[in-house]
Amino acid sequence: MTVEQALAAPSSTPTPNGQPLVDKNLIKAWLCFTLFWTIVGPVLGLVASAKLDDPYYLADIEWLQFGRLRIAHVNGVIFGLFSTAIFAMMTYAVPKLCGRPLANIRAAWGGMILINGSVLLGEVTLLGGYVSAVEAGEYGLIIDILLTIGFVTAIVPFLQTIVARRVNRMYVALWYWTAGMLWTAINFVLGNYVLPYGPGGSTSAALHGFYLHNVVGLWITPMGLGAVYYMLPVVTRAPIYSHKLSLLGFWALALFYPLNGVHHYIYSPIADWAQTIAIAASMMLIVPVWAFSVNVWGTMQGQWAKFTSGSNYTLKFLILGGVWYLITCFQGPFEALRGMQRLTHFGEFNVGHAHSAVFGAFSIWAMACVYFIVPKVFGRQIWSAKLAAWHYWLEIIGFAIMFGALTIAGFQQGTQLLTNDVSWVESMNGIKDFWVTRTLGGTMMDVGLAFFVFNIVMSFICGKPAEEGPTGADAELVRSEGAKAEATEASVKE
Ligand code: HEM
Ligand SMILES: [Fe+2]
Repeated sequence: MTVEQALAAPSSTPTPNGQPLVDKNLIKAWLCFTLFWTIVGPVLGLVASAKLDDPYYLADIEWLQFGRLRIAHVNGVIFGLFSTAIFAMMTYAVPKLCGRPLANIRAAWGGMILINGSVLLGEVTLLGGYVSAVEAGEYGLIIDILLTIGFVTAIVPFLQTIVARRVNRMYVALWYWTAGMLWTAINFVLGNYVLPYGPGGSTSAALHGFYLHNVVGLWITPMGLGAVYYMLPVVTRAPIYSHKLSLLGFWALALFYPLNGVHHYIYSPIADWAQTIAIAASMMLIVPVWAFSVNVWGTMQGQWAKFTSGSNYTLKFLILGGVWYLITCFQGPFEALRGMQRLTHFGEFNVGHAHSAVFGAFSIWAMACVYFIVPKVFGRQIWSAKLAAWHYWLEIIGFAIMFGALTIAGFQQGTQLLTNDVSWVESMNGIKDFWVTRTLGGTMMDVGLAFFVFNIVMSFICGKPAEEGPTGADAELVRSEGAKAEATEASVKE
C-alpha cells in the first residue's frame, strides 16, 4: 500500500501485515474513559461550588470537603476528561498522518489502562486525603509512579510511529503533539519527584510556577492546538490558512511559554527581575496565540456556511473553543501585569481565567474530538442532533454566566481589598450572590455534559450508519500542507 493510499483509506483498511491502519477498539476504550471523566470531573466541581454557597452542605462527610473536592476536580478534568480525549484523537490521527498503524500496540493498550487506572486511584486517594502539596501535582507518590509508567508507556508508541512514519512531511499537528508529549514527560518529573522533596522557600515557588505553567502551556495547549489543527481542515475541507503562521506559532510557544512560570507569583519574594521576565514573556504569548487564531479564522474564510447551517457539531465546538481561547489568551497577558495582579490575584477573577482556558477552550475542543471521532471512526451518526444542540447551547449560556459571575466578583473583591473599604470577611460576604450565580451556570454546564455523554452512548448503541466521510480529506490536508511547507522553504532559500 502506498502512503497516499494509506492516508486516503478508510480507517478499517488492513495494512500488509493485517493490522488495521487505525485501532478502533483502542480509540473506543479511550473514549469510554473520556465519557466517564466528563461526568466525574465536572460533578466534583459542582459539589465544590455548592459548598461555597452553603458551607454546611455535606459538612460531616470528610471525603467531600472543599479542599479535597477542588483538587480532585482539577486533576479529574485535566488528566481525565481532556487528556483521554486527546489520546483518543491521537490514536486515530497519528496513524493517518504517518501512513502506518500505531507501533507497539500492546504498549498503547497498557498505557491506556495504566493512565486511567492511576487517575482513578489518584482521584479516590485525593478524596481520601492522601495529597502531595504541589498544585496540579497533588497525587501521592505511589500514584505518581504508576502515572509516570502509564504516561511513558502510552506515548512511546506514538513517538515510535512518528519516527518511523512513511510520510516525509510532519503535519503541524504532529509537531505540537510530539513536543507536548516530550515536554510533559520532563515536566512531570519536576512536579512529582523534585518539587515535593526539593528546595523550599521562594526557590520552590519559582520552580512550582514553572511546573504549573508548563502543565497548561506545554501539555494542555500544544495537545489541544494539535487536535484543532487536525480537525479544522478536515471538517471544513479547506487547507490551513497559513503554513508560515503555524511555524511561527509553534516556535513562539516553545520559546516564550517556559519563561512564564513566575507570573503565578507576582509580588512574591521571588527575585523581582525574574517576575519582570515572566511578565514580559507573558506579553509575548500574544504572538503564538494570534498566530494560531489568525490561522483558525483564516481557514474559516468562505467556510462559515458550514458552521451556521446544518449540524456539524465538531465545527461548532471548534469555533466555540476558538472564541474562548482568544478571550483567555487576551486576558492572560494583561492579568500578568503588576497593576492587574494587584487587583485580581487574590480573587475569583483568576478562577474565571482558569475556567475560560481549561473549560471554555480546551474541554470544549476535547468534546469536538469526540463529535469528530464517532462518525469518522465508528461509522455512526450522532444519535440526536437536538440533544447536541442542547449540549452546545447549555455550554455557551452556562459558561458565559459562570465566567461573567466570577469575573465581576473578582473585580469587586479586588477593589474592596485594595481600597481597604471593608474587611476580608465582608469582601467574601459581598460575593455570595455571584457564587450562587456561578453554581447556576455550572449546573447548566453539567446538565449539558450529561446530555452529551448520553447522546454519544446512544450513538454507539443505535446511531444511524454514517459514511466515514470524504476519506481523502486527511490525505488532502497533509498534501496541501506539504506543498505549502515546500513553498515556504523555497522562499526562505531565495
Ligand atoms: C496565553 C496567555 C496566557 C497568559 C499570559 C496567562 C497568564 C496567567 C496568569 C498571570 C495567571 C495567574 C493569575 C494569578 O495567580 O493571579 C494565570 C492563571 C491560570 N492560567 Fe493562564 N494565561 C494564559 C493562558 C492560559 C491557558 C491557555 C491556560 C490553559 C490551558 C491557562 C490556565 C491557567 C490556569 C489553570 C490558571 C490558574 C492557576 C491557579 O489556580 O493558580 N492560562 N494565567
Ligand atoms: Fe501561567
